[in-house]
Amino acid sequence: MIYLDNAATTYPKPPRVITTMADAQRTKGANPGRSGHKLSMAAAEELYNCRQLAADMFSAPGPECVAFTMNCTMALNMVIKGVLKPGDHVVTSNLEHNAVMRPLQALADQNITFTQAQVVPGDNDATVDHFRQALQPNTKLIVCTHASNVWGIRLPVERIAALGKEYEICTAVDCAQSGGVLPINLNDSAIDYLCMAGHKGLYGPMGTGMLIAKCGSLPKTILEGGTGTTSFSFLQPDQMPEQAESGTPNLPGIAGLRAGMEFVRMKTEKVIFTHEMRLVQQLYDGLAKMNGAHLYTQRPEEAYFAPVLSFNLKGMSSEQVAGKLDNAGIAVRPGLHCAPAAHQFMGTLEQGTVRVSPSAFNNRNEIERFLMVIRKIKAES
Ligand code: ALA
Repeated sequence: MIYLDNAATTYPKPPRVITTMADAQRTKGANPGRSGHKLSMAAAEELYNCRQLAADMFSAPGPECVAFTMNCTMALNMVIKGVLKPGDHVVTSNLEHNAVMRPLQALADQNITFTQAQVVPGDNDATVDHFRQALQPNTKLIVCTHASNVWGIRLPVERIAALGKEYEICTAVDCAQSGGVLPINLNDSAIDYLCMAGHKGLYGPMGTGMLIAKCGSLPKTILEGGTGTTSFSFLQPDQMPEQAESGTPNLPGIAGLRAGMEFVRMKTEKVIFTHEMRLVQQLYDGLAKMNGAHLYTQRPEEAYFAPVLSFNLKGMSSEQVAGKLDNAGIAVRPGLHCAPAAHQFMGTLEQGTVRVSPSAFNNRNEIERFLMVIRKIKAES
C-alpha cells in the first residue's frame, strides 16, 4: 500500500516506536506516580523522560510545562475552556479545524464570542493585519492553526503571537499538522500554549497528544481527578503537569511518543520538512499539467506551506477519486477533513477535496505512481 494519509495519522511508525511500546508494557508496566515500588518508579521515569524531551524540542521552560493528553483536540479544549470566561472574545482564523471551531461554538451559551480573521496565503503582512483588525477590547485569546490540515497553508504564528502580546492577549497554536515538521520554539516566541498531536508528525501512537504551556499552568482546568500527588486534598493541583493530567496515563503510548520524537530529532525537522515539501511539489507539478485536475492554492513553497495538498478531479466527488485510489492501493483522505471553515474559504464545501499528505517514509516513486493512477482514473471517467 502507498499510504499518503499522514495528516490523519502517520503510518507506518518507526520500528523503534513499536519496540519501545512493547518494552514499556513489559518492563515498566506499573502505574506511574501512584506507588513507590520499583516498577512504578520506572514508569514514572519514562513519563518524565518524554516530558523532558518535549520541553527540549519545543523550548519550553521545563518538563513540568508539558501535560500529556489523548490528542490535540483535548489539548485545545483544555486551553480554550481553561482560559476563557463569560463575556470574553476570541480571535481565530478562517482555516480552523473543528477541534477549534466546535469548542468556540459551544461557548456561545456563556456569552463568549469569536471572530475569524481571514488568512491571505502568501501574504503574512495581510494575514497579521486581519488578526489585528479582528481584536476587540474584550479579546482574551487568539487561537489558530499553525498549518491548515486541508490546504497546508501556514499561518505566521510567531507574528500573530507577538501581536497578541502587544495587547496582553494569550496565544494558543494548534500544532496538529506542524509538530515535528515545522520548527516551533516557545522560548523565542510570544506563544503561550502549544497543542500537539502525538501521532502525526511526532510519530507516536494514536491516543497521544500534549499541551505545552509556557507559564506552566492554566487559569482553570476542565479535568479533575486523582494525580498521585497531594492526595489529602479534594482540590485539583493548580500547577502543571498535574493540573492538566488526572487518571492513569497512557504509559505505553507516551513511551512510544518519546521514541517517535527521538526519531524526528535524529532525522531533524528540517530534513523531514524539506523531503515532504519536495514530494508535495512533485505532486503539485504533476497535477498542474493535467486537464481537469483542480488545484486550489499557488504552488506550495516552503515559506508559506506545510506538506499537505488538496485537489479535485473535474466531474468526480472527492470520495469517488479516493475510492478509486484505494482500489489501486493508495490511501488518501477525501471529504471535509473535519474542517468545514477551511473548505468554505476555498468554495469546496460541497465537493470536499482529495487530500494527500506524505511522511518521512514516502518517496518520489510513490508520487510518480500516484500521478500515473490519477491519469488512469481520469482517462476512465
Ligand atoms: N485531524 C486529522 C485530519 O486532518 C484527523 O485528518
